Amino acid sequence: MILEVQEINTFYGTSHILFDVSLSVDGGEIVCLLGRNGAGKTTTMRSIMGLTSPQSGSVQFHGEEIRGRPPYYIAQKGMGYVPDNRLIFPDLTVRENLELAYKVPENFDGEPWTVNRIYDLFPLLKGLDKNLGGYLSGGEQQMLTVGRTLMGNPDLLLLDEPVEGVAPLVVKDLREQILKLKEMGQTILFSEQNVRFATMTAERAYVIDKGKIRYQGSIEELSANEEIKKEYLMI
Ligand SMILES: Nc1ncnc2c1ncn2[C@@H]1O[C@H](COP(=O)(O)OP(=O)(O)O)[C@@H](O)[C@H]1O
Ligand SMILES: [Mg+2]
Repeated sequence: MILEVQEINTFYGTSHILFDVSLSVDGGEIVCLLGRNGAGKTTTMRSIMGLTSPQSGSVQFHGEEIRGRPPYYIAQKGMGYVPDNRLIFPDLTVRENLELAYKVPENFDGEPWTVNRIYDLFPLLKGLDKNLGGYLSGGEQQMLTVGRTLMGNPDLLLLDEPVEGVAPLVVKDLREQILKLKEMGQTILFSEQNVRFATMTAERAYVIDKGKIRYQGSIEELSANEEIKKEYLMI
């Protein structure tokens, strides 16, 4: 397992948000964390990345306990995080946004990303090479955010609601791009509200609601489970 989360409990101040959340991601897998608005998806991502450390439980990354470690340490170990707010540098060009994010984690043994390879994956960005980040559409910004995180050569990519609020055509592009990344062997954990997008990209899913994992299984099993979908997801 690349990532093994066991029974984490996470708080914001005195508010208990995550209750004994466990999940795991194996090398090369695409796993989806599904749940409605407010279910605890972002908090789970933040807990894994070290942005909000869980008070108890365990987060193992490549077999190393990282709970309580700061985000920069976890990033250096090869975890990449795309937050749900697409914070790119508005006054830098697309290329500058990408170049700035270049980093090779410790023990990385693949072929590092280059700006040109990012452009092969996201052809739309290639045509925007010299455009300023601040003038991109929501979908273009989302591609740039993912591209920028890839420039850090993560072996585990966390994507927090990658298609939320982007236009349907861009959703289709992002779906294909996620599948291409999978073909390249990229391990991905992403969160999503909509079961349809998940079934087209992920192979396994966890369903979270009110800070607890309510279901886990293959995406086929989930698709067939009307009860779980009705109770916890948008269908
Ligand atoms: N900074 C915060 N302080 C207090 N409560 C928060 C904070 N951020 C989120 N919450 C609460 O934590 C719960 C889970 O939120 P979140 O993880 O953002 O859910 P999701 O990403 O699934 O929409 C929600 O009830 C939300 O109101
Ligand atoms: Mg969220």
